[in-house]
Amino acid sequence: LVHGELRKWSGDTSPVVSTISSTEKYAPTTLGSVPDMGEPEAMEALDAALAAYDKGQGLWPTMKVKDRIECMESFVKKMEEKREEVVKLLMWEIGKSKPDSYKEFDRTVEYIYDTIEDYKQLDRDSAKFQKHDSVYAHIRRGPLGVVLCLGPYNYPLNETFALLIPAIIMGNTTIFKPAKHGVLLITPLLEAFQSSFPKGVVNILFGRGRAVAAPIMKTGKVDVLALIGNSVSANALQDQHPKSNRLRLVLGLEAKNPAIVLPDAELDLTINECISGTLSFNGQRCTALKVVYVHDEVKDKFLKRFAEKVDGLKFGNPWDDGVNLTPLPEPDKPAYIQELLDDALTKGAKIVNKKGGKHFDNYIWPAVLYPVTKDMRVYQEEQFGPIIPVLSFQDIEEPLDDMAESNYGQQVSLFGKDVYTLSPLIDSLANLVCRVNLNSSCQRGPDVYPFTGRKDSAQSTLSVHDALRSFSIRTFVAFKDN
Ligand code: G3H
Repeated sequence: LVHGELRKWSGDTSPVVSTISSTEKYAPTTLGSVPDMGEPEAMEALDAALAAYDKGQGLWPTMKVKDRIECMESFVKKMEEKREEVVKLLMWEIGKSKPDSYKEFDRTVEYIYDTIEDYKQLDRDSAKFQKHDSVYAHIRRGPLGVVLCLGPYNYPLNETFALLIPAIIMGNTTIFKPAKHGVLLITPLLEAFQSSFPKGVVNILFGRGRAVAAPIMKTGKVDVLALIGNSVSANALQDQHPKSNRLRLVLGLEAKNPAIVLPDAELDLTINECISGTLSFNGQRCTALKVVYVHDEVKDKFLKRFAEKVDGLKFGNPWDDGVNLTPLPEPDKPAYIQELLDDALTKGAKIVNKKGGKHFDNYIWPAVLYPVTKDMRVYQEEQFGPIIPVLSFQDIEEPLDDMAESNYGQQVSLFGKDVYTLSPLIDSLANLVCRVNLNSSCQRGPDVYPFTGRKDSAQSTLSVHDALRSFSIRTFVAFKDN
């Protein structure tokens, strides 16, 4: 989708392959193909976005708020009509379970409606004048320019739109490239984008990041890099920009969220929350619990019951009833997970659960590893998969020190009961991460809450409310009371 036109493609394509088998004997399924676009298409998309922005004088950045809202409402209504088609592709392309696929779609629609409401409120607020000393001011929020937006494979709809929708509604023009997995599911929405927004406001490219995103960054004409994914890609793109100090960064990156289990934690609840926290969508969430610290006093009980529960989970295809674990969408992921397991086993960890690490097709059974030490790759790498590294501690300073040393700082889960222990601990933890979850697993939602992180985990804040601010700048008109 470039310059308001849905272009036909006659160049090279890449197959989109699902790791889910459609035959009884396991074989990956080819779902379709996507264009391998390159620099020429990237430059056309950039030109379209620049022309639509027209140095802030274009139709879109100067459009009346109510008209922009009408465009967004038209888009979301058309999107809702594509629910079944998109959900089916979510299941096939990334292996997300049926309930979670519907949830991702519905949550995204809700995000768009909430964004529209928040935008109306922002507009009402900016209609007010302020007066300090003898100076009146009319303060409002204006767009930043051209936004390059890249989404992740684990939430190809929700997280991508958490970037794209606020960027668009604030009057920016955009170029969007979907992730490698979860790419076909954007195609049912192309017509809705095309018919709802003026030409050049939303431009959508397919292809590899280095083929399309890198040349766009090199021109130095992008004002905002909006990316949810990994810091290697974010840094590489940022480095391409000749004036990267001028670039606004809206980034959601890696995390290593820990769970801390205190001696008085309610074990059933803790185990259930740690199961969903570590293994929802096979651990492929930046908000997943990636390491569990258990106090020595409860370690044995915790490990035994946790391991049994993990072995009782159900594998299946995304559309099967009651499945907890589904195929990993990246074909090479089981081999990577195996490498991490081998490394940990060589360095002294054991797989605690009976089924842990067993492979078949593109499934790998979750492995509970104990004792994990800091020299192991599974401790150091984000992993994004179904390994649960467990460490025990005697003194709470041990997990706190590890968190302080970590390169990441998104969230933590704290399990315990005694309010006099919890209260000061919550204060300490809040200075190390951005969200402390008390007796519950880490998560991003509800999407109206701030979603961000310290250190290498994020730049800027994404929530319905904050994202409108992340994709805009305050401007004002001032005059004197003469
Ligand atoms: O990958 C990170 C996602 O934002 C996680 O969202 O906590 O709702 O699964 P979630």
